Amino acid sequence: MYRIIKPGIVLKCIKCGKTYTPAPRLFLCPKCNHPLEVVLENTDFDWNKARRRRLCVWRYRELLPIREGIDPVSLNEGGTPLIKISNLYEKRVVESPNIYIKFEGANPTGSFKDRGMTIGVTIAKHLGVEGVVVASTGNTSASAAAYAARAGLKCIVFLPKGGVARGKIAQALLHGAEIREVDGSFDKALEEVLMDVLRGELANYYPLNSYNPWRLEGQKTIAFEIVDELGFVPDYVIVPVGNAGNISAIWKGFKELYEFGFIDKLPHMIGVQSENSAPLVKTWLSGSNDLIPVKEPKTIASAIRIGRPVNWLKALKAIIESKGFFETVSDDEIINSMKLLARYEGIGVEPASATTLACLIKCMNKGIVKKDDNVVLVATGHALKDPDIIIKNLESYL
Ligand code: F0G
Repeated sequence: MYRIIKPGIVLKCIKCGKTYTPAPRLFLCPKCNHPLEVVLENTDFDWNKARRRRLCVWRYRELLPIREGIDPVSLNEGGTPLIKISNLYEKRVVESPNIYIKFEGANPTGSFKDRGMTIGVTIAKHLGVEGVVVASTGNTSASAAAYAARAGLKCIVFLPKGGVARGKIAQALLHGAEIREVDGSFDKALEEVLMDVLRGELANYYPLNSYNPWRLEGQKTIAFEIVDELGFVPDYVIVPVGNAGNISAIWKGFKELYEFGFIDKLPHMIGVQSENSAPLVKTWLSGSNDLIPVKEPKTIASAIRIGRPVNWLKALKAIIESKGFFETVSDDEIINSMKLLARYEGIGVEPASATTLACLIKCMNKGIVKKDDNVVLVATGHALKDPDIIIKNLESYL
C-alpha cells in the first residue's frame, strides 16, 4: 500500500480514535467495527501552484493520498460548474441572491461518484486486482463500471431489483459491468457485497462502496472547488444524504482547508433526506447514540433510498461539528424543485439532487437561512439519469 499511498498518512477510527497503518482492505476498525478515516498529517499544497493546473480533482493532488508519480485512472472528473441562480431569486422562489448550484451532473458519468472513483480505481489498478465491486442505487455502479473500463479491470455491481433508474443501469451495461440483481433494497445489496468480500468469494475484487475511505478522499474535492471558485467560504452547504459518504467527505474537505490554514471559517452543513427514507434525520432528532434504521425506505429519489447508511456516524459528526442540521423533504417537494431548477435556471438534475433546493426553500420559510446568506446546493446527479421520473410526472405536457 505504501507504494500507492503517500507516506505520512494513517487510518483513524472515527469512533474509538485508534490509528492504523494504511492497508488496502482495512475499511472498518478491527476493534470497534466503525469506519476509518484517512488522516493527512501534513501537506505542501499551494493554491498558486494548484491554480496553474486545470480545475479538476487532481488540481489538489497534494491534498490527496495518492503518492507522487502514480499515474491516476482519470476521465478529467471534477471541475464542475458552480452556477449562481438568477431567475429563482427574481421570481422570489428563494429570498437570497447568493445561492449557488454545484452541478455535479457535469462529471464524466453524470454524478459526483466520479471524484471518488478516480482515487478508488487508481488504487485498485495499482494493487493488481482482477476487478472492482460495488453495491449501488445506480450512480456508483455507472461510475465504477466506466472507471474500471478505463483501467482495464472487470466490474461487478449488485443492484436492488427494480430500484435503479434506467439511465444508470444503461451506463453500467454500456461500460461492460456484470450486473447482479438483489431481491430487496440497497441495504440488502450492500450486505451481500460485504458478505461476499468477507467470505473471500470476491477476494480478487476491490470493494469501492463509500465505507472505503480512499474513495471519499476524491469526493472531498467538492469542498476545495467551492472555496477555489467562490474565493470565500459559504454560510451553508446543502447535500442530499443516502449512504452518507458524500456529506462526510465534503465536510472533511472544508475541515482540512481550515486545519491547514487555507480558510478561516467553516460552513454549516445541512443534510437532506426524503421523508420516508430518513434514518439520519430520525437518529439526529432523537439524540440517539446508535443509528435508527428505516426498514423499508420509500421515495421517488431512488439514489437515496437507503435505510441503513454505513457512514451514519461520520455524517452525524459532520452535522454536529459544523453546527448544521438534518432536514426532510417530501416527494412532491422534490418534483416541484426539479421543475423549478429546470425551468427557471436551465439546470436538469435527478430527484435526489432536487432535495437540496426543496430543503433550501423549507429552511428559508422557517427563517433559518436568511436573506443575504451564501448557500451552495450540491446537485449530485444529472436529470438524464432518471428519465422515467420526468416523463411520468410531466406526461400531461407530452
Ligand atoms: N445524490 C445522488 C445522485 C446519489 O447517487 C447519491 C448516492 C447521493 C446523492 C447520496 O450520497 O450516499 O454519499 O450520501 N448514491 C449511491 C449509489 C448510494 O449507489 O449510487 P451518499
